[in-house]
Amino acid sequence: MIIIGDDVDSIFDNKASLHRIFEIKDLGSLSYFLGLEVISIDDGIYLCQAKYASDLLTRAGITDSRIKSTPLEPNRRLEDVRSRNLFFSDPYLNSMPVHMQTLHMVGGLGETSYASNSLIQREGVLKTQPILEEAIMNVYGNDLSSCFRLADLGCSSGPNALLVASNIIAIVDAISHTLNRDPPALQFFLNDLFGNDFNSIFKALPDLYKRMEQEKGPRSRPCFFNATLGSFYGRVYPSNSINFFHSSFGQHFLSQPPKGLKKEGEEVNKGNTYFTSTTPPAVYNAYLKQFKEDFNVFLKSRSEELVPNGGMVLVFFGRDAKDETKSMITPWALVGIVLNDMVLENIVEEAKLDSFNFPIYAPTIDEVKETIEAEGSFSLERMELIKYGWEAGLITNNSNDDGELLVDEGTKGEYIAKYVRAITEPLLKAHFGESIMDPLFIRYKNKVAKLLEVQTLGHSILAMFMTKKCLN
Ligand SMILES: C[S@@+](CC[C@H](N)C(=O)[O-])C[C@H]1O[C@@H](n2cnc3c(N)ncnc32)[C@H](O)[C@@H]1O
Repeated sequence: MIIIGDDVDSIFDNKASLHRIFEIKDLGSLSYFLGLEVISIDDGIYLCQAKYASDLLTRAGITDSRIKSTPLEPNRRLEDVRSRNLFFSDPYLNSMPVHMQTLHMVGGLGETSYASNSLIQREGVLKTQPILEEAIMNVYGNDLSSCFRLADLGCSSGPNALLVASNIIAIVDAISHTLNRDPPALQFFLNDLFGNDFNSIFKALPDLYKRMEQEKGPRSRPCFFNATLGSFYGRVYPSNSINFFHSSFGQHFLSQPPKGLKKEGEEVNKGNTYFTSTTPPAVYNAYLKQFKEDFNVFLKSRSEELVPNGGMVLVFFGRDAKDETKSMITPWALVGIVLNDMVLENIVEEAKLDSFNFPIYAPTIDEVKETIEAEGSFSLERMELIKYGWEAGLITNNSNDDGELLVDEGTKGEYIAKYVRAITEPLLKAHFGESIMDPLFIRYKNKVAKLLEVQTLGHSILAMFMTKKCLN
């Protein structure tokens, strides 16, 4: 029991009368209550939740993050939370890590947008279609519910989100036909982070509905689209609510740049934006550790949200352990090489470059397998490593009979620089400022073109299908 009052004598009398009736132990002045620290001073009391906040940070594993002061305005009036939309009106409650607030692909439909520069990902979605077909056959084939719920995690704002949805609709239709079943209603949940341009997707929906109606006529069946905002490194959906998860080109994005890349005030990954042949092993280890932590949380969250026998297809950038991984050129490390040139030209501050590390990690098959096994909720049914050139997806009329592109290195360099910009610009802009974006990507384009004159540049992607284990 806490007794509060401004009359010390009355408090004393109260305690004495309680003591006559009950056996009580007086714990003295209040210092902690339900995680609140209480400090009494002459003209009042201070309430402080420092310990609670520090416990929360420890639990989330973000104790070495940068501290930023966000003081409440003095004399701020508290009001009834039911009377307003807390989430959108209170900046103090938007407590996502800074990088999660900046991470998104370039929105809209403009020249530098993700929508106009996502053919490389489209190529990956098309190349991994057989895995998607097998997975839906397995999951939908064993599900008799009248509504099949699917979520596309990290859908972004380009045409690929609805390409995936229409592929899935076609696959479910074909399977229903083969199994002689009425197709179910489909409910799609499109997920991405808060900065994502969902408007562009929803504006494209009427065209998709029209196409479905033209193709299926009266047999066209209900298909419902929803948006669910939030990080997939945590819970996004209610327990046992989703039949099937799909995610393309999402899980190589980490929840934050790796922890521990600053030791005793010194940046460990100086002059680089990713790990390369010249970075110390500690950098690679920090990246791997962050990936494993994030992917573990991802799997745990999805296993809660999937219905029994639910399944998941993931496609993301990986790397081939057989390649000389550390000397392999990656689009993310190449940004660092170009930024180094710009440091030498006095366009970019060296310290700025030293403190920037992409929150991206492309794992090997074994690293992914180990994490899935250690987490334990999923059975890995199939996993493949697929390779294609950095210029894959480039549309041109010039190709030879073997499908080889007959375009110059400059054109390829421009295509590649544009899609790397559409993915990385919001992160780079937040750290280096907008003014260096054009000069950076002009140099990037030239650097890629030069490299392509002497070598081929290849992406490795990992595509996997897993099902939720049913533990009885
Ligand atoms: C390269 S885009 C891929 C978009 C689309 N799936 C495709 O294949 O073209 C990656 C998307 O994942 C989103 N993303 C990255 N981390 C995320 C997270 N933790 N939670 C939700 N979305 C995330 C990004 O905002 C981005 O829109």
